[in-house]
Formats: sequence, C-alpha cells, structure tokens
Amino acid sequence: MKWERVTGREQIAAVAALAREIWMRHYVPIIGAAQVEYMLEKFQSAEAIARQIAEEGCEYYLVPDAGYLALVPDRAENRMLLSKIYVREEMRGTGLGRAMVEFAEKRCAELGCGRLWLTVNRNNAGSIAFYERMGFRKARMAVTDIGGGFVMDDWWMEKAVPAAG
Ligand SMILES: CC(C)(COP(=O)(O)OP(=O)(O)OC[C@H]1O[C@@H](n2cnc3c(N)ncnc32)[C@H](O)[C@@H]1OP(=O)(O)O)[C@@H](O)C(=O)NCCC(=O)NCCS
Repeated sequence: MKWERVTGREQIAAVAALAREIWMRHYVPIIGAAQVEYMLEKFQSAEAIARQIAEEGCEYYLVPDAGYLALVPDRAENRMLLSKIYVREEMRGTGLGRAMVEFAEKRCAELGCGRLWLTVNRNNAGSIAFYERMGFRKARMAVTDIGGGFVMDDWWMEKAVPAAG
C-alpha cells in the first residue's frame, strides 16, 4: 500500500474528504451529528489541516482511499501525540491500523521522543480495545471544553517507545 507524507493542497483535500466520510459513519452514534459537524469544521477541514501542518508541527500521512494518520512530536516533553488514526470501514481488520501504530512508534523513536500518547472518546470501545491490543494503557480521564457547547470526554492513553538504535 502506498503511504504519502501530506504536504500539498490535493493531499490535504483528500484527507479532509476521508475524515468526513469516516467520522460521519463512526462518530454520529457516539457523540451525535451536531458535535461531529462542529469537530470536522474545527479540526478536519482542509483549512484546519493546512494550519496544523504549517503552524503546529503536525505530520499527516495518507494511505489513499484507505486511511490517514497524524502525529505531533514534542521533543521538549519527550513525547509524541498520536493525534489521528483512521481507517475506512471497508479496510478495517486487515492490519492497516497496526501498521500505522508501528509507523508512529518508528517515527517517535527516530525523533527521540520517549512515549506515544493519545486521547480517545470514553465510549469509543472498539478503538480503546484496539489501542490496548497495541500496548497502550489508560493514563487518566479528561473532559475538554472544545467550545460550541461541546466537550470531549476522553481517556488519555500512552505507551513507552524505546529509543532507536
Ligand atoms: C481503530 C482502527 C484505526 C483500527 O484499525 P484496523 O485496521 O481495523 O486495525 P488492525 O486490523 O490493524 O488491527 C490491529 C489489532 O487490533 C485488534 N483490533 C482491531 N480492532 C479491534 C476491536 N474493535 N476490538 C478488539 N481488537 C481490535 C485486531 O484484532 C488486531 O490484533 P492482531 O494484530 O494482534 O491480530 C480502525 O478500526 C478505525 O479507524 N476505527 C474507527 C475510527 C477510530 O475510532 N479511530 C481512533 C480514534 S481515537
């Protein structure tokens, strides 16, 4: 499968389109359509993704028509945020999610960050099970106000990543 580091407008548009498709199907039953629309606009519109890449040190990777991954290294804090990991419904259960986590671990080690961390909605049971299978452990609960009258009700999870070499 072809992996692309996302840099250009067309790739960003492809990520935004995949995000809309995957999020609408996956999150509407969990958080409702109004919050999904709000979060897509705030975090996964083409403009938001372009800003995250240009200004927030975020690395996006696209597997065309299959899924995408976003990572935010923070060397000062010795950690890397696994910010987004999404596989299209038709492609789940084929090992792509595992390959994405392994890629994130490799990148984390390469950049000298000691651990990977992420946030996951507390009602997103399948994904929590996936992360536990991949070696992440729940670290704490966090309720985050994201404006618009919405909150994110998450588990923070993390996994130690040994240095490369
Ligand atoms: C979570 C997600 C990225 C996993 O990707 P995937 O391609 O289906 O996962 P894989 O096929 O690589 O599975 C990897 C391992 O996790 C296990 N696993 C995957 N989904 C699981 C689930 N729902 N429950 C329990 N185990 C699961 C697999 O059995 C597999 O184990 P193995 O490799 O030891 O046999 C994907 O299901 C997804 O995009 N879900 C919806 C969006 C989402 O919630 N993303 C996370 C946001 S925080």
